[in-house]
Amino acid sequence: MTDTTSIVIFGASGDLTSRKLVPALFSLHRKGRLPPGFHLVGMARSEMDSAAFRAELAASAQDVDRAAWPRFAAQLEYLRGDPTDSASLAKLEGALTTVERANGGAANRLYYLATPPHVYSDVVLRLGAAGMVDRSPGWRRVVIEKPFGSDPASAQELNRLLHQVLAEEQIYRIDHYLGKETVQNVLVFRFANSIFEPVWNRNYIDHVQITVAETVGVEHRGPFYDRVGVVRDMFQNHLMQVLAMAAMEPPASFDAEALRDERVKLLRAVRPFRPEDVDRMALRAQYDGYRAEPGVAADSRTPTFAAVQLAIDNWRWQGVPFYLRSGKRLAAKATSIVIQFKSVPHVMFPLAPGRSIRPNSLSICLQPDEGMHLQFEVKVPGTLAEMRSVDMEFHYAEDFGADAIPEAYERLLLDALNGDPSLYTRADSIELSWALVDPILQGWDRPGALPLLTYQPGTWGPPEAEALLTRRRRAWSTDCVRLGS
Ligand code: BG6
Repeated sequence: MTDTTSIVIFGASGDLTSRKLVPALFSLHRKGRLPPGFHLVGMARSEMDSAAFRAELAASAQDVDRAAWPRFAAQLEYLRGDPTDSASLAKLEGALTTVERANGGAANRLYYLATPPHVYSDVVLRLGAAGMVDRSPGWRRVVIEKPFGSDPASAQELNRLLHQVLAEEQIYRIDHYLGKETVQNVLVFRFANSIFEPVWNRNYIDHVQITVAETVGVEHRGPFYDRVGVVRDMFQNHLMQVLAMAAMEPPASFDAEALRDERVKLLRAVRPFRPEDVDRMALRAQYDGYRAEPGVAADSRTPTFAAVQLAIDNWRWQGVPFYLRSGKRLAAKATSIVIQFKSVPHVMFPLAPGRSIRPNSLSICLQPDEGMHLQFEVKVPGTLAEMRSVDMEFHYAEDFGADAIPEAYERLLLDALNGDPSLYTRADSIELSWALVDPILQGWDRPGALPLLTYQPGTWGPPEAEALLTRRRRAWSTDCVRLGS
């Protein structure tokens, strides 16, 4: 008798399945990490049989290890159907129970919603009505892709509907940034070392920058992107979660709820925006050429870049600005957290006129050249007291090998199979982050709000984004780009 663990992917003919989910599962298979009795059913509306489904996926995954692919592929099945239709779900239930009965043990199921977001609640309610999320024998979990809602009200409503048939511990809301090794490493860096935490506060830190810069444009996702824009696409989820990891208090244990509680506590401490403050604290822009992208409206006012200044009202961070920026078609792909320390309180060195001592900074480079850079001053040899900034570097690739960092989805899928929700977003967290970004969007909709700016592809956004910092004698750091190249 073997337990069965099935993953059902709804919307299986989409990009996510072939680009992320199946390669991640194949990698877990090769590492021997999938449970015995593993079985995957893909469901979508495309006309296809299991052999065609496997052949399509083979192209994306088997290059890595041809010999291992056939055994993995034998566990993949395809069912043509629509999960918002009860007959399709009945067919699915039949296929699942056939395998589960043959194995004889407990039947565990992970339903993965890779469908268009507007059907999430419908699918889950139908699964509930069909008794397919009832938990015995074995567990039932549901993974929900982003976007989770499009504003605070829709996120709340989606949570309410999901909770009609699922307990919170059955719901796994994905934010793939939390699955990135380097984002998790922020916690190890902060809480497994004793030298950083004592200075990780308003006494030593001048400000913090979080950047998620992409070189790609909207690619084939024009119609979707044009509805959401950068704040909903990147800030509400990824940037807010990275912010929480960088700024949260140390949890008492490595337990999922303890970690999630601290992230939520941090988001609660972020000072809510008032729409009338938005022009002072945030700006948005669109790259030149965006309106000509396929699927984008010719008069689109959707921002593809935003920069925002946040304040955190707690003892640790009072008075320390957090600058967040993200955009498409920027000068480099780089995701980083930069901790900019304060200047020394007194300069005893004889500096040349107009010279000052550069304050220390710590750059946590989350991708693509994962690592850390600590910048500090040293004396130039042979001079009286001339200084130069140098950099102490750590690169993951050098210490752990170029392929050491697994894809975020690998870790996230494994966690969902193991019932560990630490790296998934809880209902309260998602509602809170919507509540934080919504006033920004409202502020931009106000009559008289500052207009949408434009920037040239291949730059760091509009000049006004630089001004957000330079008017306070600060500057955006590109250390992760400069040092990584
Ligand atoms: C997704 C966004 O969530 O994250 C995309 O919808 C974005 O617009 C992507 O490109 C970035 O992810 P990563 O892992 O490449 O940084």
